[in-house]
Amino acid sequence: MRRLIAVSVMSAFAAVLLALPSEASIAAGQAPPVAAKEPVAVGTGGAVASMDTGASQAGIDALKHGGNAIDAAVATASALGVTIPFVAGPGGGGFMVIYLAKTHQVVTIDGRETCPAACTPTMFTDPKTGQPLGYDYASDQPLATGVPSMVATWAKAISLYGRKSLAADLQPAIEVADRGFRVDADFVQLTESDLPELQAYPASRALLLTPEGNPLPVGYLLRNPDLANTYRLLARYGPSYLYDGPLGRAIVQADDHPVVTPGNTVIALPGIMTTSDLSAYQARVQAPTHVRYRGLDIYSMAPPSSSGSTVGEALNILSGYDLSAEPRATALFHYLEASRLAYADRNAYVGDPRYVSVPLSGLLSPAFAATRRCLIHNQALVSPVAPGHPYPPYQGCQNQSSPQAAASSEGLHTNNIVAVDKWGNIVAYTNTINFFGGSGETVPGYGFLLNNEMTDFDFAPSSPGAYDPNLPAGGKQPRSSMGPVIAFRDGTPVFSVGAAGGSTIITTILQIIMNHVDFGMSLPAALAAPRVSQTNSATSLAEPAFYTSALAQQLTSQFGEKFTEATGPVLPLDYYPGDATALQILGHGRFEAIAEPVRLGGGSALVVKPAP
Ligand code: DON
Repeated sequence: MRRLIAVSVMSAFAAVLLALPSEASIAAGQAPPVAAKEPVAVGTGGAVASMDTGASQAGIDALKHGGNAIDAAVATASALGVTIPFVAGPGGGGFMVIYLAKTHQVVTIDGRETCPAACTPTMFTDPKTGQPLGYDYASDQPLATGVPSMVATWAKAISLYGRKSLAADLQPAIEVADRGFRVDADFVQLTESDLPELQAYPASRALLLTPEGNPLPVGYLLRNPDLANTYRLLARYGPSYLYDGPLGRAIVQADDHPVVTPGNTVIALPGIMTTSDLSAYQARVQAPTHVRYRGLDIYSMAPPSSSGSTVGEALNILSGYDLSAEPRATALFHYLEASRLAYADRNAYVGDPRYVSVPLSGLLSPAFAATRRCLIHNQALVSPVAPGHPYPPYQGCQNQSSPQAAASSEGLHTNNIVAVDKWGNIVAYTNTINFFGGSGETVPGYGFLLNNEMTDFDFAPSSPGAYDPNLPAGGKQPRSSMGPVIAFRDGTPVFSVGAAGGSTIITTILQIIMNHVDFGMSLPAALAAPRVSQTNSATSLAEPAFYTSALAQQLTSQFGEKFTEATGPVLPLDYYPGDATALQILGHGRFEAIAEPVRLGGGSALVVKPAP
């Protein structure tokens, strides 16, 4: 299946360079008016939180023009594809959790990318050695691109639950793309984190780099007329312009026959997508997951997302402890161990349920959780711990001795949007193109990056022939960690939270719920608190502020927990595995939208009518 790339070097590359602005002229152009970036907003009429002010403002504009939370979420997501193209846009996919106030229902939309029909279980192994490819190497390849599912998700959500049209909801993004926005320091960091991949494609260089191939400087007015035009075409012709039309053909061409920069050493494995893969794509409505926790009803995303089942299982394990009454180090020890065990089960059992049998009711069963809780004593378990047996009758305290299914490596980014409207509808929407910058490839002429989501599959089972629910196959969706939560008390929504950060999405959501519900922190404080993530790995990944804390020391000395400090080549970006957004329903038509105060330069929370 895999073949070495037939590189079609762009002969007109010099012309592309001439068309670009020189670095000396970057400051020219009118700065668009942008509200100040505030991480918390309280008010009425509706609210939105996202990573970026321009994107949140697009959602607020949709609300002000008669749209509901679904319209606002699509407006925000499509605008984020303009202002932070490294984490969003038409080239990716995601999961939407929706509360419909009128019918008092929670529904979800599975808008996850699919693997092209030609995918096979060995597509990410080296045919010469039979060994799995390097994760970063494979993730840089067009082969890692799945069928872009974002536009289908937007269209499905709007047609079923929105008040406006796709055309109306794309309008704010079209305006932002046309008039441009100022590059800031966060944008530069994100560019740096994907620089070699962006440099490998003339179309990405032309859009996102200087003629010299460097990140655009702070203050540069970045317009994206190609993406504005793409959104106009989608507005005019609908999603079929992508799934059965010229845009789809351009995506397939870009994926299978990438045009690369002369001298490129990054790109070697072209994609295997066909236009039939695109026309077969369907975003699907499906039932949410549900667990009870401290009197709350917690709803999230079912497989192929692993968020609902893993957050749910960990909360079920934690239900057996009175965390609020425990010393904080003990409570955090219980959190880390609950995550460790829930992750073992996630890795062993969760995959695309259309391809593998996922024991979802077992994973979400309090009785099953009890069989995992009783493994926790007073010392950290040694990872990898074996999975449990999530099938009734649930029998206590036994680990399976079968080999541990391999957990796929996961990168650390994406984005979460929350939106609420004056009718009380809520949308929590985690979406992504996977890595910062996705595959790095911009679809020539269309102004957006393609995802590299297929490396969320496991590349090989843990041992030859071992069962693995997350191996690639034609049409299959890779397991995801994305899946925001909406929480209810006595049938009334009280808060929502979602996060970025690959496999740490699940632990970030868990930690925020625990901070808020058990430790009594306000949601802004719960988001801001230093994070630590245990994913059935030898050490827990800790943000620097946690790593250097007295609590971390106590967890090590008293409970034998081990930590690795989150860091990387692009700082402070790599100190933060992921950022989060949240929403508090305050009652009487009042909302509090919450974004990150610091991580990734902070996010943006806005309300329609700010409280005086
Ligand atoms: O679906 C997932 O869980 C991931 N692909 C989400 C994206 C992410 O955070 C990884 N980023 N590099």
